[in-house]
Amino acid sequence: MPLRVAVLASGRGSNLGALIATRDAGRLPVQFVRVGSDKPDAGALALARTAGIPEMVLEPADFPSRADYDRALFARLADDRAELVVLAGFMRVLDGDAIAPWTGRIINIHPSLLPKYRGLHTHRRALRAGDTEHGASVHYVSAELDGGPLIAQARIPILPDDDEDALAARLLHQEHRLLPAVVQLIASGRIALRGGQVQCDGQPLPVPLQLGVDGLHSGASGHTSAP
Ligand code: GRF
Repeated sequence: MPLRVAVLASGRGSNLGALIATRDAGRLPVQFVRVGSDKPDAGALALARTAGIPEMVLEPADFPSRADYDRALFARLADDRAELVVLAGFMRVLDGDAIAPWTGRIINIHPSLLPKYRGLHTHRRALRAGDTEHGASVHYVSAELDGGPLIAQARIPILPDDDEDALAARLLHQEHRLLPAVVQLIASGRIALRGGQVQCDGQPLPVPLQLGVDGLHSGASGHTSAP
């Protein structure tokens, strides 16, 4: 049975688009059961509609508190029997109690080499710090913002004439490879969170997997073959 995946997104949805394209290419054995958003005009919802994926909008203004919002959101995803929730540009901090039952079943993509630059404006902060390298991370979601166990990262060099937009665009291209590759490993049962620790093929992952030209590989060995 394909893994039942829900995607939450607040914006344009290009990472959702990459997931759908990978599924359509026959390289992602998942069923998208829901695309949810807090923004009625999110591009991600239009993408879902085109792809025939059920959509859902929950607007924060309709709920008395963040915790109420998150409880309602995850109750809906439970009704959908989602087995994995992918946060792909979902611009909300999630309530710890609401997500606790979903531990190990929610992942997020963040545009920095975590633990560097949690939160917003990651490209700007990397440039201002004079970093020579930037990247994106996929991690399991915990109550701590952008702080859960890391699964995989993609790295790109920062070029001398990079500005925020150029850097963001180049990184986004890698995000579109990184996120489907991670979901693919989870869907095939090779990656899981056990006892608070990310495991790959039943072994603890000492460092995040790294995206190479040919896909994800072990960050520890430096090999470029699939893990
Ligand atoms: C991506 O950069 C992702 O890393 C971050 O939000 C952005 C979402 O972009 N969390 P998109 O909506 O998938 O195009």
